[in-house]
Amino acid sequence: MCKGGFQNPPLPDTEMGESVQTLSLGKSGVDVSALCLGAMYFGTRNDHATSYRMLDMYLDAGGTFIDTANIYAHWADGGRGGESETLLGEWLRERGNRANLFIASKVGFEYGDVPRELNARRIEEECNRSLRRMGIDTIDLYYAHNDYGCPPLDEVLAAFDRLVRAGKVRFIGASNYRAWRLEAARCLSQSNGWAAYCCVQQRHTYLPPRPGTSFGAQIAANDDLLDYCRATGLRLLAYSALLSGAYTRDDRPLPPEYLSAGNEQRLRTLRDVAAEMGATVNQIILAWMLHGDPPVIPLIAASTKAQMQENLGALDVHLNAEQMQRLNVAGTAV
Ligand SMILES: NC(=O)c1ccc[n+]([C@@H]2O[C@H](COP(=O)([O-])OP(=O)(O)OC[C@H]3O[C@@H](n4cnc5c(N)ncnc54)[C@H](OP(=O)(O)O)[C@@H]3O)[C@@H](O)[C@H]2O)c1
Repeated sequence: MCKGGFQNPPLPDTEMGESVQTLSLGKSGVDVSALCLGAMYFGTRNDHATSYRMLDMYLDAGGTFIDTANIYAHWADGGRGGESETLLGEWLRERGNRANLFIASKVGFEYGDVPRELNARRIEEECNRSLRRMGIDTIDLYYAHNDYGCPPLDEVLAAFDRLVRAGKVRFIGASNYRAWRLEAARCLSQSNGWAAYCCVQQRHTYLPPRPGTSFGAQIAANDDLLDYCRATGLRLLAYSALLSGAYTRDDRPLPPEYLSAGNEQRLRTLRDVAAEMGATVNQIILAWMLHGDPPVIPLIAASTKAQMQENLGALDVHLNAEQMQRLNVAGTAV
């Protein structure tokens, strides 16, 4: 298994087959760590000590990009929402490292007495609450967490733009959006001179879900979105990249939405390439994203040292063009 971390100093975007340590955050002008640390269960399912251990390990490996949301993780045992941001705030204060990190949070889903909605008042109120919980002055990247019910984009973008102008937010992103809504948002931002979405965070893994699958408010990346990102330079980030560990764990079967003859073929190819590279299947999935066209930033989450080491090791897996092609086409002719 490759055990790695971010090289120091980070390298810029590189050709396929070479190390990918950082990637541009769309057209924001900023480069971020190529693996983003998901903090969803920090402070709930992952206790204080575990969460700190994972954050410290990621930081020690050179990672600086951390992802949370106002609602994390209200559905976990004992969770009400806000636990992840609160723990992150404590950790930032104790480590005194806020200035070295790039922190992303989100607004739009329901928790506690906050309904699922995106409007000017909700965006402003929830941004203030997230800033307070994390004890910071500015959120580096603030996402619309969903586009559920197609809220009026002009109101949403104008509200985000006010946050940027007020210095409460540096950049904005979209999550769980369809490509046509991203294009509508891009046009609105451009014509009004508002801050524009620089990235989109979507459900995305190596196996495509079966046609017609719905994940409710979670929107999976598809060829249309990848094409849109390639054409516009919007950066794609992938959540559920490892399907909760289901690629390799006996205790986590693959979700039924991913069972198909084509995906059987893809799994075989994944295992073949992993064996050739002396890497794990999870590392090949993450490396396949980093080396893709367009390159994708995976969100990695972990609750043990071994998981974190394995996931960070993906940075050392340099897939060549032939392997990428084999991984890309596997299962498509079935
Ligand atoms: N925008 C959105 O709507 C949205 C939705 C979901 C998530 N997210 C973000 O994406 C991040 C990651 O999401 P996710 O939890 O769905 O990711 P995931 O990659 O599908 O699952 C992560 C979980 O898989 C297990 N795991 C991780 N590495 C492993 C390894 N090497 N071997 C075996 N098992 C491994 C761990 O489970 P155990 O800890 O149980 O062992 C870990 O918590 C979240 O933290 C959050 O920031 C965003």
